[in-house]
Amino acid sequence: MLQTAEQPPRSPRFVQVYREDQEALRRELTQGLLQAQAHCSPKFLYDALGSRLFEAITELPEYYPTRTEASIFATHGADMARAVPQNATLLDLGAGNCNKAAALFSRFEPQRYVAIDISVQFLQGALECLQRQHPKLEMWGLGVDFSGGLQLPEPIEAAASGPRLLFYPGSSIGNFTPDAALAFLRSVRLACGTQAGSGLLIGVDLVKDSAVLEAAYDDALGVTAAFNLNLLLHLNRLLQADFRLPDWRHRAHYDTQQQRIEMHLQARHAVKVSWHDEQGQRCERHFEAGQTLHTENSCKWTVQGFAELLQRAGFQGLQHWSDEARQFAVFWASAC
Ligand code: AVJ
Repeated sequence: MLQTAEQPPRSPRFVQVYREDQEALRRELTQGLLQAQAHCSPKFLYDALGSRLFEAITELPEYYPTRTEASIFATHGADMARAVPQNATLLDLGAGNCNKAAALFSRFEPQRYVAIDISVQFLQGALECLQRQHPKLEMWGLGVDFSGGLQLPEPIEAAASGPRLLFYPGSSIGNFTPDAALAFLRSVRLACGTQAGSGLLIGVDLVKDSAVLEAAYDDALGVTAAFNLNLLLHLNRLLQADFRLPDWRHRAHYDTQQQRIEMHLQARHAVKVSWHDEQGQRCERHFEAGQTLHTENSCKWTVQGFAELLQRAGFQGLQHWSDEARQFAVFWASAC
């Protein structure tokens, strides 16, 4: 035998915590559909087709956040590398295809990479491919639903012994209302642990002109409309519901008071919808012409407002980087 001294190739380890519960899902959706203002969590936008439509959104001319954030990382990557801990465990919140974090490996040189998403299934292919490109990096895939707060399971807590670099890009924090964002960021700070140098690197979309925001969420090609309407196809499958796409139109409106884009699906005329609840009972709701189903909030922040939020969540030693037009910001926030 040759090469007896060679280590076997590393492979990623996977921990799946989240268990999908059909009954709980149907209960949650039924409750939302029966509220005076019908609503549905934006997490239901991301079935297989929805995830691909979102990827297409990030390439639209009107949708500036993804490319602006990438340009901030490209311009200020060296500064960021000086702020974040060395030899860290990089914990990637909502990792998906893992591309954003992987682009930072050479700059940040993490010792360990933990990709976190709702299902390790989504992460498997991407992580196995990444592991071949970075054979020395220890990799984990973690399947948890962190939308109600981040809690690291025991195997990760034990493995992530050094400093921790939590990474939450893309302005996904915008899906939380300010109160919920505060609670979520407090849980993230706890997940940073107690090692000196640990902290959070987070991307935030900034308050700006309504017309720019509304175009970003209602593009001329109609991809965001398709992304929003696809939620109804997803609900039809999850609830055996009978939404018909031609009955609904996509709406995106910027509320300057609450500093958020609201996405809705609006009934074009009077519509009757029925579905199965968690007990298998048929439920029904009438929507009048113009009534809506609220599908997403995308909250925008000022640099000042977001810095205050991070401080209230217990972070300190804040730094931020932005693009020239101040469209988007990336914050570094130390946990201790
Ligand atoms: C993935 C939540 C950051 O709010 O900009 C894009 C989702 N919705 N277009 C955002 C989204 C419509 C996106 N986030």
